[in-house]
Amino acid sequence: MCGIIGVVGSPDPVSVILAGLESLEYRGYDSAGLAVVEGGEIFRLRAAERARSIEKLRAALEGRPPSGGASIGHTRWATHGAPTEQNAHPHADCSGRIAVVHNGIIENHRELRDALVTAGHTMTSDTDTEVVAHLVESELGAAGSLFGALQAVLGRLRGDFALALVSADEPDVIVAARRSAPLVIGVTKTTALIASDVAALLPETRELYLLQDDELAEIGPGSFRVVALDGAERHPERFVVTWDVQDARKDGYPDFMSKEIREQPRAVAETLLGRVGATGLGEIEELGIERDRLAGIERVVLIGCGSSYHASLVGRHAIERRARVASDADIASEFRYRGAVLSERTLVVAVSQSGETVDTLHALREARGSGATVVALTNVVDSLMAREAHGVLYTHAGPEIGVASTKATLAQIALLEAFALVLARAKGAMAPEDYGRAAAELVLVPGAIAETLGRVEAYEEVARRFSRSENFYFLGRRLGLPSALEGALKLKELAYVRAEGYPAGELKHGPIALIDPSSVVVAVATGRELRDKLHANIEEVRARGATVVAVVADGDEETAALADEILSVPAVDELLSPLVDIVPMQLFAYAIARARGNDVDRPRNLAKVVTVE
Ligand code: AGP
Repeated sequence: MCGIIGVVGSPDPVSVILAGLESLEYRGYDSAGLAVVEGGEIFRLRAAERARSIEKLRAALEGRPPSGGASIGHTRWATHGAPTEQNAHPHADCSGRIAVVHNGIIENHRELRDALVTAGHTMTSDTDTEVVAHLVESELGAAGSLFGALQAVLGRLRGDFALALVSADEPDVIVAARRSAPLVIGVTKTTALIASDVAALLPETRELYLLQDDELAEIGPGSFRVVALDGAERHPERFVVTWDVQDARKDGYPDFMSKEIREQPRAVAETLLGRVGATGLGEIEELGIERDRLAGIERVVLIGCGSSYHASLVGRHAIERRARVASDADIASEFRYRGAVLSERTLVVAVSQSGETVDTLHALREARGSGATVVALTNVVDSLMAREAHGVLYTHAGPEIGVASTKATLAQIALLEAFALVLARAKGAMAPEDYGRAAAELVLVPGAIAETLGRVEAYEEVARRFSRSENFYFLGRRLGLPSALEGALKLKELAYVRAEGYPAGELKHGPIALIDPSSVVVAVATGRELRDKLHANIEEVRARGATVVAVVADGDEETAALADEILSVPAVDELLSPLVDIVPMQLFAYAIARARGNDVDRPRNLAKVVTVE
């Protein structure tokens, strides 16, 4: 998962490329590079200094005259070949007159590489991407143009890719192609751009077009053309963006994560707007599945990865509790290869902030291929999953830049709660007056989240006490479990410490053997019904010397008395509790990560969008 960008027709292409790379850096930051066609040559510059590569490029380009023709840039998340300068993109062919940037994986790169080496090509990197430059080089003579050469090569590539290439012989041309990895084209009167996502293009233009799977594009100053693999002309529709560049900026916060945590009340409120109101249930327009088809649904399977899987676990509870429909939540990379038993009366909900995560995308395709009704629940309009599903559920959290998901996860949970009510209504599963009551509780949640955010100092003070601890266990029961899993994930990905989330009832079946006086146990104890059970679990770990931090609902003195530290939250209905319980754990992980000097927006070894398996 990398970020690619290209511009042609700009008086200062290097500045456009560097600015675009900065806004794409959340996609990967192991290395960065650019290539500019000028004076009949290709100027190529690369740097491999984790999270500082673009800075290094900018420093090396200081004072360079703003000239140049077609230019491409890349920020990398290493998959094939170590994060070195040698493996940084752009890669070139033997002549150095063709350069390529790539996001995705060329699965058959080894056999292509062997054939190229046998044919006399010299490979200079360990990457899968480099084969594309040499393949295009080998086709250029016969094809007569970069576009024609790429067209000839595409059929030989297996895997997921977004590619952009330049040639020293065509200074006003960038050619590009995609399969399963996103590419957006942007145009102005005099320039044309291509990038992995909209945010990188918005500073230059709002006239945007999406490239579809297996399409090629040739862009020139102020113009572009698109054809399918078979050469048929294509005319992509103009794409309208509802948010602006400002949303993709830090607004005075030290990092995107702390900004996005504070945006959660708005993200949830805007996601519920028009769907759930104080007076009752509305509609989810873009769902695009008729009520009688919904009424025929007999099983729901929610699939996702990471935080989206945790949101799916909450969704399962809400759908079973509200709509009384049998439901499962599954990790997408497991679901994909499980050969799940699905029918046309199964609804599969693919939950994904980015709408691009390849594990979830392929699981979605698998489910669709098995005859299930498939809905994509995503934060990115017209993303891959949104286009491939039967129906869509959009969260309205705005762009999420911080790699650790926060506002998008809460917006997913809120939308799944709303969808559970919509499904219940289609199935007539609740008493008419109960929809109003449930809706009224749900629309109060943004206020409860805002109230929780008002306690940030108290949470961070508790967190700082544990900034040197190394062993954390997050425990929960029922709705407390997804919150515990999310808390553990945030601490792992931000503070790089061992943090395990467990069903509290599972502890005595093994994990309790790990508990000792160095252990910190975070117990999510806001659920009223199972409180006594959780109290017993807290006692069990205290008996082994663990320090206990409890997430408690206001007024619950009993649980508070059992814990060494508390993270108090406003009391809400148990089914909605993850929407407030997760907030202190985001801030807990954030404060510990900051105390350990970690970069919370660009955690090591991670990236925002996972487009490789
Ligand atoms: C969460 O903080 C992580 N960034 C990661 O686990 C993420 O949730 C996962 O990769 C799924 O991403 P998606 O929602 O965009 O599909």
